[in-house]
Amino acid sequence: MITIRLHGPGAGETREIEGRAGQSLMEAAVKANVTGIEADCGGLLTCATCHVYVREPFSSTLPPPTEDEAGMLEFTAAQRRPNSRLSCQIVLDPTTQGLTVDLPPHQH
Ligand code: FES
Repeated sequence: MITIRLHGPGAGETREIEGRAGQSLMEAAVKANVTGIEADCGGLLTCATCHVYVREPFSSTLPPPTEDEAGMLEFTAAQRRPNSRLSCQIVLDPTTQGLTVDLPPHQH
């Protein structure tokens, strides 16, 4: 299993969840009922409500966003930052062990 940490915005809740290799970060978070990842489109890359801010070192080591993800990142409700990613496009594998992200203040 792959451990992921999600920090809520501000003094919000911090969750540690487990995911499987091959699963997306969004899928693992939704399965664990994480508050703050809406994922309205279910991973079809049409909603941008699965937005997260990826902490280092993972922000640098994850495969870069595809052109489609980068385009959709223009539509995040919360401010886009250099480490913004759509969690439905982050595929868990052994290199993402300990992946840590911050949740944006809102997804709509
Ligand atoms: Fe809709 Fe990621 S779940 S873009």
